[in-house]
Amino acid sequence: MRLERGGLEPGSPGQFFMLSAPGRLLPRPMSLCLAPPGELAFLIDPIGPGTRAIAAAAPGESIDVLGPLGNGFRLDVERPLLVGGGIGIAPLPYLAERLGGAPVVVGFRSEWHAEAASLLPGAEVVVEPTLVTEAMPSGRDVLACGPASMLAAIRSAAPSAQLAWEAPMACGYGACYGCVVEIDGRLRRLCVEGPVLGPETRARQASPLHEDQAPAGRAGA
Ligand code: FES
Repeated sequence: MRLERGGLEPGSPGQFFMLSAPGRLLPRPMSLCLAPPGELAFLIDPIGPGTRAIAAAAPGESIDVLGPLGNGFRLDVERPLLVGGGIGIAPLPYLAERLGGAPVVVGFRSEWHAEAASLLPGAEVVVEPTLVTEAMPSGRDVLACGPASMLAAIRSAAPSAQLAWEAPMACGYGACYGCVVEIDGRLRRLCVEGPVLGPETRARQASPLHEDQAPAGRAGA
């Protein structure tokens, strides 16, 4: 989905926006996928009512957008390797652009889902049962996004990896505690302390949802 940006800044790769479809109370967190001039672009997997409503927005329709939010990836790495799984590849096109072209390994559960890799020209693509960790070269500064099981496996293989964790989010700015994860025995809000966490973290998700929202602007689809 490409939106006219209006006065919103694209932010850093790994940051996210809260998108609300017309008539829907609960927004959905979406990593910025690309930042074309004057636009914000998102990769959306329409798997539920909220994401289906966002994906169904018609050209010219307006939706509420809040962001950029959270902490993105550190870009001061010497030998970056971008790794993504499934819809977790969403922030990688913008990240690859900002890093000026880094190697990319992405994994999907089916050939159909793997079509999303067209957003990452030159990426090495694996499909289950092959796992991204089997295709990752060693000795790299890994920046990754994907399901928790994949991130845990990546951290075992590359302990210094920067990992973008996924969590349900209701507000996106620290007010609802809907995105709380347990990190080294402490509960933290992933929306304000993540979603990108560094090697010092040990994250385990435990997140009930609450409804809250404070839209910052409207963008045209
Ligand atoms: Fe509301 Fe994080 S999403 S506190």
